[in-house]
Order: sequence, then C-alpha cells, then structure tokens
Amino acid sequence: MTGFFITLEGPEGAGKTTQANHLIHYLQEKGFSVLLTREPGGTAISDKIRSLLLDPANGKMVEKTEILLYAAARAQHLQERILPALAEGKVVICDRFADSTFAYQGYGRGLDVHMIETVNDVATEGISPDLTFLLMVDVEEGLTRATREEADRLEQEQMAFHHRVACGYQALAQQFPERIVTIGAGNIEEVRQEMIDMLDKFLTRRKGSS
Ligand code: TMP
Repeated sequence: MTGFFITLEGPEGAGKTTQANHLIHYLQEKGFSVLLTREPGGTAISDKIRSLLLDPANGKMVEKTEILLYAAARAQHLQERILPALAEGKVVICDRFADSTFAYQGYGRGLDVHMIETVNDVATEGISPDLTFLLMVDVEEGLTRATREEADRLEQEQMAFHHRVACGYQALAQQFPERIVTIGAGNIEEVRQEMIDMLDKFLTRRKGSS
C-alpha cells in the first residue's frame, strides 16, 4: 500500500506550521499514520543545507548556488524520508516542497522557469504532491509575524521580493487548480476548518478512485 503526499505552501508568516499540526491530529484521529516534515530540512544532511541557506551571514550566495542547494536538500529528503514513508503507507505532510522553488527562485529571484523545472525534476524524480494547501496572507503582515524574532537570509529580502513570491504562488494555483487549494487569510480556526473541509473532499475522492 502506498500513502499520499500533502504539502503546505505560502509566503512568510502564513501560519503553515500551526495548520500542519492541526492536519496531523485530524488525520491521526482518522487512523492514518502521518509523517510531518519540512523543506529545506527533514534529514540531518538537509538540515545542514538549510542552515547554509538561511544564515544571514551568507549574503554573498549567488542565485544558482541557492537553487542548487534547495534542490540538493530536496533530493536527500525525498530519498531518505519521503519515499520510504510513502512506501510504508504513511501520509506525508511536508511544510514546503518544489512549489516554493518556483515561487521564491522563479518569481522572487527571476530565474528562468525552464532551469527551475530541470533542477526540480532532478531533485523530485517527477514526484508531485497529491494535495497542496496554499495559505495566503497579506505579505506585509506575514513578514512582520515571521520576523518577530531574528530574520533569516530570505526573510531579509526586500518587500518587492516577497510580493513577487506571492504573485508566483497565485500563478501556480491557477496553473494547477486540481492539486492546489488556496486558503485565504483568516483566523486560525477559520483556516483550520476550511482545510479540514477540503481534506475531507480529497479523502472522499481518493476513496472513490481506489
Ligand atoms: P521556512 O521553512 O521557515 O518557511 O523557511 C524556508 C525559507 O526558504 C523560506 O523563506 C522559503 C525559502 N525556500 C525557497 O526559497 N525555496 C525552496 O525551494 C524552499 C523549499 C524554501
């Protein structure tokens, strides 16, 4: 039996971590075995790459290094954690995945979309989430929330960068309406309820097609 793959995406400060925890509890109550993980990260090697990527001291990092490091972290994560968990029949909930590369390195940095596709394909081996929750938030508000403590290298980017990231996400949602469910800003409980409703629809569809 194979499991299924859910990702959470969104600009900075969209509340993904809080909502991921709600999803786990809901799925566990329904009897699913769940792995919660994140990108960049999820394995010891990928966490080291995460530190390199987010360290504000690495201001000299060029865009190609950045995208290749995200891809390297993803390749390791996929092989070491995501694929084995899916093979064991688990539900994998991942906080960010390849859509983040399109939004941040594609729209945010302006890197060529074909290059991103090529790099992402190498890292993901064509594995795509079954369902993606895109949590949208007012860009300024989210960034303020995310940077209450020290801002990391990406969070320190200018506001225009973060607006381009948000536009990138909207474009992705239009491109993949079957997979990406956009959840607008709301209070924690409203967002949770909307996600659970969409998850139930997804589970019903899945049951129907199996
Ligand atoms: P977060 O997990 O705390 O949101 O931090 C990860 C940061 O890395 C966030 O600013 C988004 C960024 N990111 C990319 O730029 N590209 C990617 O492919 C991924 C996974 C994350």
